[in-house]
Amino acid sequence: MASAAKDINPRQSSLSARVGLSTSPAAAFHSPPSSFGTPLASRPAPSNAAFLKQLKPFASQDFKILLLENVNQTGRDILSEQGYQVEFLKSSLPEDQLIEKIRDVHVIGIRSKTKLTARVLKEARNLIVIGCFCIGTNQVDLKYAAENGIAVFNSPFSNSRSVAELVIAEIISLARQLCDRSSELHNGTWNKVSNKCWEVRGKTLGIIGYGHIGSQLSVLAEAMGMSVIYYDVINLMAMGTARQVPTLKALLGNADFVSCHVPEIAETENMIGPEQFEQMKAGSYLINASRGSVVDIPALVHAMRTGKVAGAALDVYPSEPAGNGDYFNNSLNSWTKELTSLKNVILTPHIGGSTEEAQSAIGVEVGQALVRYVNEGTTLGAVNLPEVHLRSLTMEEPNHARVIYIHKNIPGVLRRVNEVLGDHNVDKQMTDSRDDVAYLMADVSDVNQAQLKDLYEQLEGLSSRILTRILY
Ligand SMILES: NC(=O)c1ccc[n+]([C@@H]2O[C@H](COP(=O)([O-])OP(=O)(O)OC[C@H]3O[C@@H](n4cnc5c(N)ncnc54)[C@H](O)[C@@H]3O)[C@@H](O)[C@H]2O)c1
Repeated sequence: MASAAKDINPRQSSLSARVGLSTSPAAAFHSPPSSFGTPLASRPAPSNAAFLKQLKPFASQDFKILLLENVNQTGRDILSEQGYQVEFLKSSLPEDQLIEKIRDVHVIGIRSKTKLTARVLKEARNLIVIGCFCIGTNQVDLKYAAENGIAVFNSPFSNSRSVAELVIAEIISLARQLCDRSSELHNGTWNKVSNKCWEVRGKTLGIIGYGHIGSQLSVLAEAMGMSVIYYDVINLMAMGTARQVPTLKALLGNADFVSCHVPEIAETENMIGPEQFEQMKAGSYLINASRGSVVDIPALVHAMRTGKVAGAALDVYPSEPAGNGDYFNNSLNSWTKELTSLKNVILTPHIGGSTEEAQSAIGVEVGQALVRYVNEGTTLGAVNLPEVHLRSLTMEEPNHARVIYIHKNIPGVLRRVNEVLGDHNVDKQMTDSRDDVAYLMADVSDVNQAQLKDLYEQLEGLSSRILTRILY
């Protein structure tokens, strides 16, 4: 049976008055003294963690979560099961309404349309964490959030399999000129050909970037009888019988199909350009479902016109429209017309990761990250705070508390914090910093309610403080 753990959570004052604690603007909400150490019999413990003490905000029903933009049901369920107050809206909100709503909530879940600017976040007095139920996080002012102790989580890898499967479909489609045959027939033309149509069995796939997507693709391609080689800036363990090659040139010179799966960084900008097309095998194929900046498109157009490249599949582009509509034209990217006029070129609107399964996995990943952060303070996977994790407290540690102190990364802070903590037995402690913000987590033992209150107030009184939370 799990025992209760409670929370002194810093951004809500409504309950503070009940226990006579501070009601400063960033005041915590606090557990009523009577609940200290009370078992929470109704909360099921995970079967494999029967002896772990579950840290959890006390008074879950007072904990408010706002989910916007039709966040997937899986994420909603995970948060609702915790007993939090979850408000769910299908759309995003105009800024004035968003500001009105965000004032109240402790957690907000968004997708790509909700802009959480500094102006909006300034009003979010109770907010401790933002969940981006998507891949990107550029809709959030990450720096402002970090400097104000608001963690941000996203889900960068939930759609890896979806992308890998799309690439598999494209490899076969390119080898068989499938999209051309289909569109010809749509236009009434019967064009049965076998010339330059191939099986993929026995062909070589060259994967550039052997990360989450590249390695998934490797497994799938081998299952179809392809040989796989890959190039990556780091040495990585091969899946199956795949083989890492030492240079991009070695990959390009040996692959029948080249597929790009690198991040968008300065080193990967136009990494497939005129020189690289020259190095590719004659009649090979190029696939890019990574980022639009990775492939020099005019160079691709040239390589296809000369017959060096026999086909290409692109899912990403240097400029992409913000929404659906008739935007894929020369005003978006100056070479669009030239590209669309080519044969055996598959163009898709950045749908690599767009599947029901990926959406559902995003809901689970971000939902769980939010619960872990709220209940245990763990920042693993946070995009704007240092990643800090402590092993869970156990049932044998009933009077332990977890202290979380988010603070300015300035000299002398740890000495002062440890002076405060030093009156207690600190079982374990971890701290890490990222830019101007540091995150400290410590488990202290044998602490009572009065001592916790004192601890909290002392930490809140330090000039380095951004946010203090105490979970117990
Ligand atoms: N089309 C879509 O819908 C879609 C969906 C998800 C991800 N993506 C994109 O796919 C790409 C890969 O995603 P991932 O999740 O596999 O990333 P990842 O971080 O897991 O893997 C990227 C790999 O590229 C390697 N790498 C970095 N720089 C390199 C370089 N200069 N040369 C060779 N290798 C290099 C890294 O070492 C790493 O192994 C990213 O650009 C991501 O944004 C696209």
